[in-house]
Amino acid sequence: MLPKTLLVCLLDLIAVKSAFGWNHVSRANFESFANGKELALVAFVAPWTEPSKALEAEWLAATSQTKNPLLSIDCTAQADLCREQGIISYPAIRVFDGSDKVRRYKGARKASAIVSFLNRASFPVVSTLDQHNITDFKSADEAVIIAYIPNEEQALKATFTELAFKNHDKHTFGIASDKKLAKAENIHMPSVVVYKSKGGGQELLPGPSSVDALETFLETATAPAIGEFTRKNEMKYMKERKSLVYYFSPSPEDRETYRSSLQPLAQKFKEYLSFVTVDSVEYNHMLPALGLHDNGAPALAVFNPMYGQAFPHDQKKSITPEAVEGFVMDIVQGKVQPLGKEEETRHTEL
Ligand SMILES: *[C@@H]1O[C@H](CO)[C@@H](O)[C@H](O)[C@H]1NC(C)=O
Repeated sequence: MLPKTLLVCLLDLIAVKSAFGWNHVSRANFESFANGKELALVAFVAPWTEPSKALEAEWLAATSQTKNPLLSIDCTAQADLCREQGIISYPAIRVFDGSDKVRRYKGARKASAIVSFLNRASFPVVSTLDQHNITDFKSADEAVIIAYIPNEEQALKATFTELAFKNHDKHTFGIASDKKLAKAENIHMPSVVVYKSKGGGQELLPGPSSVDALETFLETATAPAIGEFTRKNEMKYMKERKSLVYYFSPSPEDRETYRSSLQPLAQKFKEYLSFVTVDSVEYNHMLPALGLHDNGAPALAVFNPMYGQAFPHDQKKSITPEAVEGFVMDIVQGKVQPLGKEEETRHTEL
């Protein structure tokens, strides 16, 4: 058996190691990055607070997936430094890229979003593409926008570049001007194509366009097939006049899993249906109107905002992509009655 003191030491060591997912650096170290040319992200944290703790695991996971430095500053130990950097809430993430201006990181505080951001930022605002590097480039980000524009169309190139400057923080942009390359890909020049990774397929806008038309296209084409329903975007969904397929779950991880497994179905029905996930804890009050009761498990309902009809999915049945597709088809074919309809029918029959 190990002597007790040694055991305690070992346990301490393990505890200390796992408590430091952060990579806190000294002022000198920070300044050398801040004044350097390399793209680096710095998290200013108050390690004991919940939001900082929530970021820690994501930060650690992101560190192992990128070559760019991810540093952190413990603002409880280096209050002066954080004040000088204008940090007023924690955690704050700043982007240092060798330019004079320090930027805020505005993306999601998830490892995947942080890594995508760094990949994106490592490319120029508009990358030039040839037949050797276009294939890899298409999967470099969740949404990659490639304009196939011949060299002589300078005005259109300028328009696309303007669009890229506005949206470089969110997506990755490239231009392919080689006519042979466009031909090989079966794309008619000029066209703009959005390539979506994660099985999202691609969307094409043919012909030259204004910045406005490009922007509208970009917004629609890059919208996730399944979004998270919130008070903020509620009106947008209601105005679309499409039926909504609500998936309620208390767990963010479960909603994420649903979004990826239902993605192909959402893509298939996107003209008619908006698939959304809803936090069943925060939006608990929505359940009764949709004919659902809260039993802590995920639940699904279809709602038609034009007619105010709700179709609750049987809560005893499991929610798989096949089950959802079957349910939607049954509704379309009139095999499922909306909520309230059954009682109404019974009423008139009496
Ligand atoms: C693709 O190759 C061209 C040279 O043909 C180069 O100028 C460009 O930077 C490369 N693009 C990327 C994204 O690597």
